[in-house]
Amino acid sequence: MNELIKKAEETHNLSKEELVTLLKDDSLNQEIFHAANRVRHKYVGDEVHLRGLIEFSNICKQNCLYCGLRRDNDQITRYRLEIDKAIDFAEKANSYGYKTLVLQSGEDSFYTVDKMKHLIGKIKSLDLALTLSIGEKAREEYEEYRKAGADRYLLRIETTDKKLYEQLNPGMSFDNRVKCLKEIKELGYELGTGCMVGLPGQSIEFLADDILFFKEIGADMIGIGPFIPNHNTPLKDTESGAFEMSLKVMALTRLLLPDINIPATTAMETLNLKGRLIALQSGANVAMPNVTEGEYRKYYELYQGKICVNDTPAHCRSCITGQINSIGRTVSEEYGFRKKSCSYDYNSGGCC
Ligand code: SAM
Ligand code: SF4
Ligand code: FES
Repeated sequence: MNELIKKAEETHNLSKEELVTLLKDDSLNQEIFHAANRVRHKYVGDEVHLRGLIEFSNICKQNCLYCGLRRDNDQITRYRLEIDKAIDFAEKANSYGYKTLVLQSGEDSFYTVDKMKHLIGKIKSLDLALTLSIGEKAREEYEEYRKAGADRYLLRIETTDKKLYEQLNPGMSFDNRVKCLKEIKELGYELGTGCMVGLPGQSIEFLADDILFFKEIGADMIGIGPFIPNHNTPLKDTESGAFEMSLKVMALTRLLLPDINIPATTAMETLNLKGRLIALQSGANVAMPNVTEGEYRKYYELYQGKICVNDTPAHCRSCITGQINSIGRTVSEEYGFRKKSCSYDYNSGGCC
């Protein structure tokens, strides 16, 4: 076995230089995926946690160059769900057996703090764990949502290279993104972050820094997916196809953060028909099926070709369960909180 992979599997620590060496050597990919699969099995077991994803608004005040929801995209049909409709979707998802829901949207100021607290309260009354993924907010707002019962917050750093981040996210500040992540953590949320792989101008060194950042910030879940160019954005001419590299960044993240939750992302399946299954066998232990009902899911178009846009929540639920069972894994009946392990030395907040 390659010495660096052995070191990662045994100690869960690698330097930036060591990560770069592994990221650059394509001949090691399968060995890395197998090692990440073993570490996943050892630390988080064979169950897969399902998080039902409600995409409740595609209206966004931000203008991220990569995203189809960016405010300057006039080629998209915009929608926002009334709170009662979002509650209705949550109740339906509950009836399909989900134990966790994710509320995701653009940065849409229609949803005032009071509206969001009402929605959070209703979802929590269904006895579900709840993740928010609604962008950058003031600390006080994060605090209100936490008090209202939100359990987790997902805010990808996207890339840890400050210059690239600020090029891709006009009007946004890298330092504020990091500040938000720290505040979310301090407020007692389970912290989710992550990155895109294959962004224009992104180097292997940046990806190594991303993985080390996940460890340093003390993330409880990490979502990694390939960047997929959207025809209606300024990055439309960028080359697509970072499936294998995003799988590798994900697998290395599993090796360095053995007990966190890692989703097999939708973007991976968009680039590879079996993408989520491959990811689940390369370190992932979570899937996030779409539970948005009706026509809305096709309008939540971050990029073209997104999977499941013409399917129903009921169909997706049975589809993903079948896929998971087909690789000898089972769907968890639990809320899927991170169970911190004491059996390795990690420096991100420690459990004992
Ligand atoms: N507005 C919130 C935010 O930005 O954190 C949440 C919604 S945003 C659509 C969710 C994630 O979609 C982003 O964090 C980004 O990584 C991902 N995303 C956006 N455009 C993408 C693209 N073209 N390819 C792959 N992922 C993309
Ligand atoms: Fe808005 Fe999020 Fe898309 Fe940026 S990534 S444009 S914040 S929805
Ligand atoms: Fe939606 Fe398979 S998960 S069709």
